Parts: sequence; C-alpha cells; structure tokens
Amino acid sequence: MSGSAPTRVRLGVNIDHVATIRNARGGAHPDPLRAARVAEAAGADGITAHLREDRRHITDPDIEALAATLKVPLNFEMAATAEMQAIALRHVPHAVCIVPEKREERTTEGGLEVAADENRLAHFIAPLAEAGCRVSIFIAADRRQIEAAARIGAPVVELHTGAYCDAHFEGRFADRDAELERLREMSAFAHSLGLEVHAGHGLTFDTVGPVAAFPELRELNIGHYIIGEAIFSGLDSAIRRMREIIDAARREALGEGAA
Ligand code: PXP
Repeated sequence: MSGSAPTRVRLGVNIDHVATIRNARGGAHPDPLRAARVAEAAGADGITAHLREDRRHITDPDIEALAATLKVPLNFEMAATAEMQAIALRHVPHAVCIVPEKREERTTEGGLEVAADENRLAHFIAPLAEAGCRVSIFIAADRRQIEAAARIGAPVVELHTGAYCDAHFEGRFADRDAELERLREMSAFAHSLGLEVHAGHGLTFDTVGPVAAFPELRELNIGHYIIGEAIFSGLDSAIRRMREIIDAARREALGEGAA
C-alpha cells in the first residue's frame, strides 16, 4: 500500500466477517468482494482477508476473486503453513501477514511466537519476499518478538492491539493505559530497528485514536468493529468515520496538516 504523505496512516479494511455472515447461511450473500468494492470507494487503502486453515470465513474462491479484481492492495493474512505459502505464491498479493492460528480460538488471540521459531520462519518467508510480497509478522508488542522479526528479515511488524482494546472495554483503565504505553514504546523500538510498523485487532472508534497517533505507525488493519458498525450506519459510513478519527488523531498528535 502506498500513502500519499509519509505521516498518513493507511487503513486496511478486514472483510473476514462479511464472509462469516454469508457462511452462516451457506449462500452467496453478503459477498465479501462487494464489501471490498464499497471499502475501496469509501477510501480504504487496502483490503485485508484471512484465509484460515478451516475456511470458517474467507474461502479460496474469495481470495481468487479479491486477488484478481481489487484495485487497492490485498493484505493476505495466513498461518505459516506449506498450504498457505503455496496459495500466496500462486496469487502474489501485495502483502502477506503471517499470523498464529489455533482452530479452537474465536479470533487470532495472540501474536506469533517468532523468537522460538526463527529458523523455520526465516526460511518460510524468504520465497514470499522473493516473489514480491511485502511480508509482515503479527506479534505482541514485545521486545523479544520484535527483535526476532527483524532478525528473520521481515520488513514489517503488525502489533497486536487486542489486549489494549480488551482492557478498555472491560473498564480496566490502568491496564489499558499500560498496554497503550507498551504499544507506543514497542512501536518506536520496532521503527528504530528499521521495521515498518502496523497495528490492529479489536480496534474501534473509541480505541483507534491513541494508536493512530504513534508517530512511527504506517498502517492499521481493522475489521470486526467496522463490519459490526455497518449494520447500524452502513459500510461506507463506518469506514469514512474510522478514517476521520484516524486522521484527526494524527493531526492532533503530529500537528495540523500531517494527515
Ligand atoms: N490484523 C490481524 C493480523 C488480524 O489477524 C486481525 C483479525 O483477523 C485484524 C488485524 C483485525 O482485527 P479486528 O477484526 O478485530 O479488527
């Protein structure tokens, strides 16, 4: 994805949960590709989709359709498995985000354990990078994981914002503030190692601003809340509102005109 100004934060809209609703009835509606087109028109800088091993939401034909027709870059989220690597190499999406995956989890609960699996992951991402995919690693805001991501040669890390968002919604405000501080410090640390910094998971209108304000941040990937809000206000409006909040937080943090 390319930003128009260096300080603008790109917004990737995750459309997995359009597919979740579609799959609840087993038919073709609502179509994730149509959602992607609405997102493009509403100003999304990219579309994010996670092809899970169990295909519980996004399916192989969804990825084929997205890869073939999107105008904005596709960020393909996947587990570090041979099957997913082959699919990524077939479509060569703009970006590949490597995520941990457990079948029993409801969503991607934690970040990837990079430090414990460095050798394998370095070999795993090399062909993806050679094919031209920008490889991002989804990790907790943890110094060890960030250092390991840099060592395996990933150009991008996406910091998991789930713990920060959970603390906010459970009213644990001291924990929330501590999580936010950790994210802020680790964003600066990752940037200092030459990594591009992205963030995502669980972000909402209420929680996105402070994260968008991190000066090093280049991209946010947001799905569940946007799709949920779309029930009330429409997808176009939900995305535009998210964009406005991100830009306002950026302007406030970095000075007028930054966004
Ligand atoms: N980034 C990554 C790497 C993810 O796995 C997810 C969830 O699929 C998201 C961002 C978006 O999270 P949410 O749907 O909670 O906004």
